Amino acid sequence: MRKIAISLSKGGVGKTTTAVNLSAGLARAGYKVLLIDTDTQGQASRALGVSSEAGLAELLSGEATTAESIQEVRENLYLLAGGRNLAGLKRSIDRKDFGGELTLAEGLEPLNSSFDYAILDTAPGWDSLTVNVLFYADEILSPVSMEILTVSGLMDFQESIQAIQKYRPELELRYVLPTFMDGRVKKSEEILSQLRIYFGEKLCSPIRYSVRLSEAPGFGMTIYEYAPGSTGVEDYQAVVERISKDG
Ligand SMILES: Nc1ncnc2c1ncn2[C@@H]1O[C@H](COP(=O)(O)OP(=O)(O)OP(=O)(O)O)[C@@H](O)[C@H]1O
Ligand SMILES: [Mg+2]
Repeated sequence: MRKIAISLSKGGVGKTTTAVNLSAGLARAGYKVLLIDTDTQGQASRALGVSSEAGLAELLSGEATTAESIQEVRENLYLLAGGRNLAGLKRSIDRKDFGGELTLAEGLEPLNSSFDYAILDTAPGWDSLTVNVLFYADEILSPVSMEILTVSGLMDFQESIQAIQKYRPELELRYVLPTFMDGRVKKSEEILSQLRIYFGEKLCSPIRYSVRLSEAPGFGMTIYEYAPGSTGVEDYQAVVERISKDG
């Protein structure tokens, strides 16, 4: 199973949008996908139009079984929901004297052979849950919105990743995904060419700015369902193909 964390400390860069639509695209391509929402905002459920009684917090605390906490939300697509209850999980991680950073990895270990992909949506910021995600995932995809501040945020995030890599050398920032790309704005093009110099092969083809992408979660739909044939589908499909090709 490939475990890919969609992560960047900066907020509002398209992490959830990417986690949901990448998961949906991989599932449509025939892979069995587990989308794990590690954010207390719990927006993955909303974006997929489901309400979740149990999820990641309940699974890890032992309050719910695997069958009770994982929902099949689409064909091939399974959700381990996030939400407010993750605050309690975070507190219990923080109270541990040692090994707290492995809580998620140990709790999810039994699922390792059940899926082709685990895609993790993460909260903005940097806390004990973020660290747990990076002790579980092997690959990181960082969405970067085309603003100078976000690019410098990516540089800071890379330093944080390096701190974790001392303990987990297998962890790799593998993909940098430009989001909110607007080809009409000169700044967008400039930032993109800087990213290309710095990240080379890690750089994915961009996700363009699209009103459709921002509307879809309000209807509980993925972009594939809400606006087939849109630029959002075209752009996320390119990411799906890129990632699955790297198998
Ligand atoms: N390519 C895009 N074009 C237009 N709007 C977008 C695009 N990608 C995401 N959005 C919208 O921008 C907002 C922020 O996106 P999203 O929630 O995916 O970011 P996030 O990084 O998960 O935020 P947070 O850090 O709060 O979790 C949302 O309203 C989303 O619908
Ligand atoms: Mg989010």
